[in-house]
Amino acid sequence: MMYPGQGGMYPGGVYPTHLKSDFESNGEMIYYTGYNESGDLIEIRYGPRWLYVHGGSCVNCHGADGKGGFPVMMGFAIPSDIRYETLTSEEHEEEHDEEAGEEQGEEAHPPYTDETIKRAIIEGIEPSGEPLDLTMPRWKMSDADADDVVEYLKTL
Ligand code: HEC
Repeated sequence: MMYPGQGGMYPGGVYPTHLKSDFESNGEMIYYTGYNESGDLIEIRYGPRWLYVHGGSCVNCHGADGKGGFPVMMGFAIPSDIRYETLTSEEHEEEHDEEAGEEQGEEAHPPYTDETIKRAIIEGIEPSGEPLDLTMPRWKMSDADADDVVEYLKTL
């Protein structure tokens, strides 16, 4: 049973009511709240409806440790491990589901760089040029905010 106000649906129970002082950096604040340090909501171009309605950010899908791995509400793909080390390592494996289109013996995509991580966040495109699953929202983030998020991923 869920009662109003119990808030059990959101991993970590994170709501965009934090003060800037709760976070050590702009990147961390965006990761947890979807707001930047100027108090602007980072809008999404596409994403699951609950995210529009209730707000949320990276942490709701990728977790506080950035490792992802658990399914999200109305999501079709499992959020990936987005720790910087994982994204940029050679061994980074495709965690795509075995749906259509995967039978060309697709290799793990090339390692990410700071630039391609930003592109993944904003445009939803992998280093290989392939689109990410639409479970991953497309964030209308400024270049500076995206830089800060990438910096934050380096600390996970
Ligand atoms: C609604 C859930 C959700 C939210 C919120 C979300 N992501 Fe994702 N993200 C995903 C899913 C699912 C994938 C995997 C997509 C796929 O496999 O094609 C993903 C993939 C990624 C990737 C590509 C990783 C890879 O393995 O290629 C990056 C980078 C990323 N997310 C960063 C972020 C950042 C930064 C935020 C916050 C600004 C964020 N995500 C918010 C669900 C989410």
